[in-house]
Formats: sequence, structure tokens, C-alpha cells
Amino acid sequence: MIQLEEKMETKNTILNRHSTRYFTDQKVDLKDIKEILILAQATPSWVNSQPEHIYLATGQSLETIRQRYLNRSKTAAHGKPELPVKSRKDWSKQGQDNMAAWSDGVSETLGSTWQDTMGSAADKLYNAPAILYLTLPKDYSLWSLYDLGAFGQTLMLSATDRGLGSMTAYQLIKFPDIVRNNLPISDDEVIISGIALGFRDNSATVNKINSNRQPLEQILTINN
Ligand SMILES: Cc1cc2nc3c(=O)[nH]c(=O)nc-3n(C[C@H](O)[C@H](O)[C@H](O)COP(=O)(O)O)c2cc1C
Repeated sequence: MIQLEEKMETKNTILNRHSTRYFTDQKVDLKDIKEILILAQATPSWVNSQPEHIYLATGQSLETIRQRYLNRSKTAAHGKPELPVKSRKDWSKQGQDNMAAWSDGVSETLGSTWQDTMGSAADKLYNAPAILYLTLPKDYSLWSLYDLGAFGQTLMLSATDRGLGSMTAYQLIKFPDIVRNNLPISDDEVIISGIALGFRDNSATVNKINSNRQPLEQILTINN
């Protein structure tokens, strides 16, 4: 019985994590962020290599990053993340179809100005009170990318478990020079990902976006 309840809690945490595209002004306690990160450290990694380094931007350093992002966005500058981005047309058919379906769903939910609505939330870094930047050593093994993704998911589930919203986004790392100018990230590291944390603003239109998943049969092949 106890085991079943535990299972249900895990299931709820997994299903209650959704990308949060606008946070309230409420701050997150540093103590909570540290506890979330300690739980994320339980993530498995290749030969327990634990290749990640995490930089927390909050308070004045985050406000400076946010202001510079806003200014940069006004110039319509293109993002230049340190992890290369592949054009949508070069993805697999399955990937392209799912991205197209998601974009269609977003435009249906937010209306014809969906790009502006999303863009303005993104330019404000989703109003997040805390952003974690995840780095790897410059000469990282591809397996470390795998490990870092898992680390990020454990981190987000731990945040959900505490009632916090989270957001992994390209938007957060698309201007790495701004991030680097405000955080002590060494030249020997690559900024891979950004995860925003905070309290979800349920009244925000951008948070009405939802996402579906393709049927299991589409991704599962069983051989008996
Ligand atoms: C690596 C990564 C980058 C992402 N970048 C963005 C982004 O720049 N803007 C955005 O609106 N959503 C971004 N997302 C969120 C995805 O759109 C979202 O995870 C997906 O639609 C599924 O929705 P869910 O997270 O609510 O389950 C990103 C997700 C991941 C994993």
C-alpha cells in the first residue's frame, strides 16, 4: 500500500511538470535551490563522472542579464548559443512533424500574435527570479550531454515536487556573451543549457500553452 502511494506521488510529480513561460515576482529561497540541486546530483552519469557545473544567476546579476537581453532583443539580433542549433528542416521527419504540431497548438491557444506573446515573455527571461546555467568542460564526451539532460530533468522534477515551476529554454542561453559577462564561467567550459526556476504565474496567457505526446506505438518497437 505504502509503495503504491509513493508510486502515485512520483507519477503526479512527473505529470505536473510543465514548461513555465511566466513566473510571478516571488523569490525562491536559496535553501530550496540547493536542496533541489542536491537531489539532481542523484542522477546517474557515465562512470559517475558528474561532469556538470551549475551557475546560479539571481538578484542583481540576473537583473543585469535580463536588462541586457531586453536591449539585445530590440536589435533583432540572432541567437548564437554555444551548443550548435540545427535548422528544423534538417531534423528527422518524426521530429519535424512533432515540432509542427506543437507550433500549430501554440498558435491555436495564443492566437495569431503568438510569436509576439511568446517573444515578449522570453525577452524578459520569463520573469524568472532564478536561472541555473548548466555547463560542461569544453572537451566534453557526448555521453556527458546525455548525463546533463538527465540531470536537468531530475532537477526539474525536484522543483515540481516543491511546488516550483521550471523552464528549460534555448532563449536563456541564446546570448552566451551576456551570460558570461555576468557570471564567472571559465573559457574551459561550454554553456549547454539554462533552466529557470520560480513560481508559476497561472494568470499569464503564455502559461496556457500545453503540449501533447505522440502515441507510444509511434516510438516503441517490441520484439518477442
Ligand atoms: C532543450 C530545450 C530547449 C527549449 N527551448 C525553448 C524555448 O526557447 N522556448 C520555448 O518556448 N520552449 C522551449 N522549450 C520547451 C519545450 O517547448 C517544451 O518542453 C515542450 O513543448 C513540451 O512541453 P512541456 O515542457 O510543458 O511538457 C525547450 C525545451 C527543451 C528541452
